[in-house]
Amino acid sequence: IRRPPRSTPKPSSAASDVYKRQIKKNDRGGFTVPTNRLYPHQWNWDSGFTALGISSLDKSRAWQELVMLINAQWTNGMLPHIIFHENNPNYFPGPDQWQKNAESQTSCHSQPPVLASVMWQMVSRGTEYDKMKAGTLFNSIMAYHRWFFSARDPDKEGCVSIIHPWESGRDNCPDWDIGLNNMKIPKNLEQYFRKDTSYVDKLERPTDDHYDRFMTILKYGRDCNWDNVKMHNEGPFLAIDPGVNFILLRANKDLYKLANYLGYSETINEIRNWIKILEQGCQKMWNKDINAFTSFDKRTNTYCDAITNASFLCFYAGVGSNQQKSYMIDHCNRILNNCNYGMPSLDPMHKCFESKRYWRGPIWSIMNYMIAVGLEDINELSLADKIKNDTIQLVKKNGMAEYFDPITGIGLGGRDFSWTAAIHLELLKDEIDINSKHNFLNNKNVIN
Ligand code: GLC
Repeated sequence: IRRPPRSTPKPSSAASDVYKRQIKKNDRGGFTVPTNRLYPHQWNWDSGFTALGISSLDKSRAWQELVMLINAQWTNGMLPHIIFHENNPNYFPGPDQWQKNAESQTSCHSQPPVLASVMWQMVSRGTEYDKMKAGTLFNSIMAYHRWFFSARDPDKEGCVSIIHPWESGRDNCPDWDIGLNNMKIPKNLEQYFRKDTSYVDKLERPTDDHYDRFMTILKYGRDCNWDNVKMHNEGPFLAIDPGVNFILLRANKDLYKLANYLGYSETINEIRNWIKILEQGCQKMWNKDINAFTSFDKRTNTYCDAITNASFLCFYAGVGSNQQKSYMIDHCNRILNNCNYGMPSLDPMHKCFESKRYWRGPIWSIMNYMIAVGLEDINELSLADKIKNDTIQLVKKNGMAEYFDPITGIGLGGRDFSWTAAIHLELLKDEIDINSKHNFLNNKNVIN
């Protein structure tokens, strides 16, 4: 069990109630929306982090979150990045934009696979109940990871690719600029109307040009019925993301522990092999020009020169030689020294840095959480503490925003955000007292 750093401020149980209440407010009957108006559906990795955050307060609700997500798994094993439990005309792009017949009620690609790691956390600090629940979902996670290797690394190169920037969960980070600029926007791209900018300041969201490119890939996918082979071989966009690869590697390591714990010995060799493949494959993302892990655009065969918060997930994955680790620690120190709060989503010295624009500068709690876990794993405790404390302080001062400005600390994007609240609870979980747990469990009908 991870202990919070000694310097972690102690919340009163009343203060932690605010975060719990927010997650309940975002509950839509067994699943949690990221935030009310901007994202009114269920998102894949959001649900993973939400389940983690509430797991020490209400186990059964936490597992339900994962079950609702996994119920939407495709027969090929893919777990979609959005589940549209109901049609909501205030969200764009909705089901009809993803598929012509719109029967599936899901988006048609995935998101960073955090679920195995979330489940392992829930089981390793849980009870027989958690073990039993994990057992019922284990095969679905195996199928999910199998899908990643077959659909996103069909040539067996050792690391998985993404076919849309949205699959990375870091939609408009500069990692995808090379690939997106390399694409042609078709003349017959249908006119569309963004909804996000009616809720959030345009300057905090992806640009219209980025959106045209996102929609171009969507159109291509819709037109070829999301044929994985076609998307991989000929689709408009293909890139290797350090985020997805490091998260998948960590997820496989956690799945391995889970398989051992549950006694699923027949799966051990397969998982061990995935770990071996990715450990070698991740070296592909080492960018010698800047001595850092970065993304790689497969259509132009070019490394991106940006160091992002996903680069620092190398520690979470347990990847890198001693020399590579030491370079990455130097980058980490340098970047943290260049902003008031860490970890920014982009190196502030990079030409594309924008402190308010989504994944091009702002801080995201979930990324901070994973970076801190990785730093603790390699015993870089003061860096881990700095990142955790910044995450806690940002939320305390500026609320449960979607992301935060690394220079001023102000909250940006959507408000009342589930994963920001959930990570806050997770970082402070050992501080939350029994009384407050009791209230959470007994307040089932308070809000909605
Ligand atoms: C944005 C983020 C993505 C997240 C979603 C819902 O699209 O880029 O990572 O899952 O919002 O919060």
